[in-house]
Amino acid sequence: MQFWLNKEIALVVGGGIAACRVLDLIRGLKSQGAGVSVIGTPAATRFVTPLTFQAISGRPFHGDLFDPTLEGGMDHIRLAREADLVIIAPATADLMAKMAHGLANDLASAMLLARKGPILAAPAMNVAMWEHPATQRNVTTLARDGVIFCGPDSGSLACGEEGAGRLATVDTIIETARRLLEAKPLAGRQILLTAGPTREEIDPVRYVSNHSSGRMGWGIALAALRAGARVTLVHGPVHLPPPLGAQTIAVTSAREMYTAVIDLWEQHHASQTLDAAIMTAAVADFRPVARSPEKIKKNGSSSLSLELEANPDILLELGKRRLAANPDRRQPVIVGFAAETGAALKRGREKMARKKCDLLVINDLLEEGAGFGVATNRVTVLNHLGQEEVWPLMSKDAVGARLIQTITTLLTTPVNGGVT
Ligand code: C5P
Repeated sequence: MQFWLNKEIALVVGGGIAACRVLDLIRGLKSQGAGVSVIGTPAATRFVTPLTFQAISGRPFHGDLFDPTLEGGMDHIRLAREADLVIIAPATADLMAKMAHGLANDLASAMLLARKGPILAAPAMNVAMWEHPATQRNVTTLARDGVIFCGPDSGSLACGEEGAGRLATVDTIIETARRLLEAKPLAGRQILLTAGPTREEIDPVRYVSNHSSGRMGWGIALAALRAGARVTLVHGPVHLPPPLGAQTIAVTSAREMYTAVIDLWEQHHASQTLDAAIMTAAVADFRPVARSPEKIKKNGSSSLSLELEANPDILLELGKRRLAANPDRRQPVIVGFAAETGAALKRGREKMARKKCDLLVINDLLEEGAGFGVATNRVTVLNHLGQEEVWPLMSKDAVGARLIQTITTLLTTPVNGGVT
């Protein structure tokens, strides 16, 4: 919400059927606090009327380069200058061709030529038009001129054909726009993240697991990506779409997660390219000693004993490997999570000491609004100086953003309180 407040978007709408979907983009941006001025090509108004754009954006529609009612007739220059970001959606083949060649014979193209700041283009058209060498040439030219592209997606198109040419989703366009405008304190940094539960199979049908949804890890991934970091996310079985721009590795069991994380750690260690390892996954502490190859039958028995053995502790292992590699340095920063049910702070302190991490995020699952399956969290953060910070009840995305701020400070403060 905060981020978009008072941000000005100039939304250029090209003349394609996807113009109809842009109404949701306007609603989405406005609901988060942005101001949206719509500039339509003449063809765009054949799909959506100026009155509709006006009603949804709550502002006058701009479509005429030669509007005699405008003082000084400089609408295209004013719109190009005042916007924090120009979004073109849909960016049609025609509009991109005009841009690539510097044509400016209507308000939309004139405004785009007058624009000096960032432009985000979300193309949408028939697949043959998108794949045509002329369009691809124009896209290359525009990318070289600094235009950032979002999509197109592949799928079934309005014309009935299948292929690349669908307008990116509203969420993807808004998130890409946000990333263009955000500061990038973690640019060039690499973060390794685990999230979600693990599943330990008993037989082909059953498994041991926990209620972790992965949302906390997703919130951290999103914040890290917004801050410009590269994110590798190793996650167990979750029902969440991959965070935009993250490299994701899906695993099932704790041992698979261990192998994936240790491999990545070693690769990065060799090239010294890892800046932080954040272990949010709710890794199953135990797994069945033996996995039955066939479904275990009841056979009239009234009970079943399951023998379990301990899984490797990934966080503990990372702490050990870092200590062995360079005892004096806290790099990569290691962050652990502790989900407790009572005496959370005391147990958290013990865990922090044992697992040798730099930050430990503790939540008490018995507290309202904290823990598994909910969108919020109430956490206490311990740092390597022994300090503790109690954070108020927040969304998991907000906890993620604040944790990434804390890690950024650790990574960028060179001496004393920082990571050396
Ligand atoms: O000891 P406990 O499971 O409470 O520790 C939680 C922290 O340790 C979390 O950061 C979790 O991701 C990590 N962990 C791990 N491997 C395990 C168990 C926990 O990385 N096998």
